[in-house]
Amino acid sequence: MSRSAHPAGPRHADVLPEGHFSPPPTDLNALDPRVWSRTTTRTEDGSVTVGGMDVARLAEEFGTPAYFLDEEDFRARCRAWRAAFGEEADVFYAGKAFLSRAVVRWLTEEGLNLDVCSAGELATALDAGMPAERIALHGNNKSTAEIERAVEAGVGRIVLDSFQEIVRVAHVAQRLGRRQPVQIRVTVGVEAHTHEFIATAHEDQKFGLALADGQAAEAVRRVLKLDGLELTGIHSHIGSQIFDMAGFEVSARRVVGLLTEVRDEHGVELPEIDLGGGLGIAYTPDDDPREPHEIAKALGDIVTRECESAGLSVPRLSVEPGRAIVGPTAFTLYEVGTVKELEGLRTYVSVDGGMSDNIRTALYDAEYTVSLVSRASTAEPMLSRVVGKHCESGDIVVRDAFLPADLAPGDLLAVPATGAYCRSMASNYNHALRPPVVAVREGAARVIVRRETEEDLLRLDVG
Ligand code: LLP
Repeated sequence: MSRSAHPAGPRHADVLPEGHFSPPPTDLNALDPRVWSRTTTRTEDGSVTVGGMDVARLAEEFGTPAYFLDEEDFRARCRAWRAAFGEEADVFYAGKAFLSRAVVRWLTEEGLNLDVCSAGELATALDAGMPAERIALHGNNKSTAEIERAVEAGVGRIVLDSFQEIVRVAHVAQRLGRRQPVQIRVTVGVEAHTHEFIATAHEDQKFGLALADGQAAEAVRRVLKLDGLELTGIHSHIGSQIFDMAGFEVSARRVVGLLTEVRDEHGVELPEIDLGGGLGIAYTPDDDPREPHEIAKALGDIVTRECESAGLSVPRLSVEPGRAIVGPTAFTLYEVGTVKELEGLRTYVSVDGGMSDNIRTALYDAEYTVSLVSRASTAEPMLSRVVGKHCESGDIVVRDAFLPADLAPGDLLAVPATGAYCRSMASNYNHALRPPVVAVREGAARVIVRRETEEDLLRLDVG
């Protein structure tokens, strides 16, 4: 079967493919360092290595689909965040992006704290030895059991999300004879998502207590009256995959505004503020994320300035990056199974995974890039759509991509920047077995989350 290359666009408007793809890259073999993890490179013989390991060998040893996580890159990003924020601030890694015991150990060693949002994440953190005082518990509907587990363990922070929760946490703390440090999560009236900065309709959401209608101030009043709770600060998280610092600046200003009100009303200066996570990463070379030191400077400056003008001492700042730490450090490796060419339109390339290991394309219309990594190719670029093996047409991994026209079953494709919210949101749809996560570093690879087996699936099915 011959597969012709498709030039940058279709010839007829009536077969115009949907999507907004850029023209084909000049060199399909190049691995753009903006989207690949630090140690991923193509060698002169055309093979690709990560952490000093040959990717085709990794596929043989660990199978596909699989996530390969560049441990050196992960640790370097942790260190960059720590160094940028310095001793006067705390960096809480958001475990929802991807959490495993190995990750917890790396975080512990690199001096990061950890934000968890469920009993499962908390159990993983404690089991792998994260000191409880470095853990923060989040969630808009924490169960009493989750609260008990957290208070009993002695977590350093519970972020209160509702009036009901204030009472629940206070009861648990009292019963266990503890005084639990808490922050109050407020909605500041900005919601920022990918390149957008929307200043309306933001309080209309399930999280937090609004500043605008006085709920946040009322929450402060209630918490300050309860002996079991020690109010340490105010928390705000404004969205995901954010590139523009303007939303954070508004958020910081409004949070400091509340600290000022609290001082004026109660004579109390709260010692902490947390500005959440949400910092964007490059999924494609068009994305232009901020570096940790730029983020730290922008946030530090605005908090300092606002506090000085309000006559407040500067509180201890914390942030909660998840995606920005783990996202760029992993790629998903797939094997090509079938290749279906639609003349004049595009070529559908089916891989051995799909929406069960990366739901983000189907769910958020997320954009990814993809490269042939088992060999180099000099073939023409072919407009392709990388799809999975699940039983629905929305099962798309990479909507629009150029791949070499000699692509064939058995070739290996890698999709970079899948470290965040891919394994953590993976499912067993169609009874797919969730892929392993393999950490690679300095010429060694080890499984940190193993591949699911049919026995795992059947064990849950108790007949
Ligand atoms: N802190 C809080 C309170 C959060 O709710 C989140 C994310 C973070 C920190 C970390 O945000 P990050 O730095 O990772 O963007 N499943 C979606 C993302 C949902 C994020 C939910 N909260 C995705 O795949 O894009």
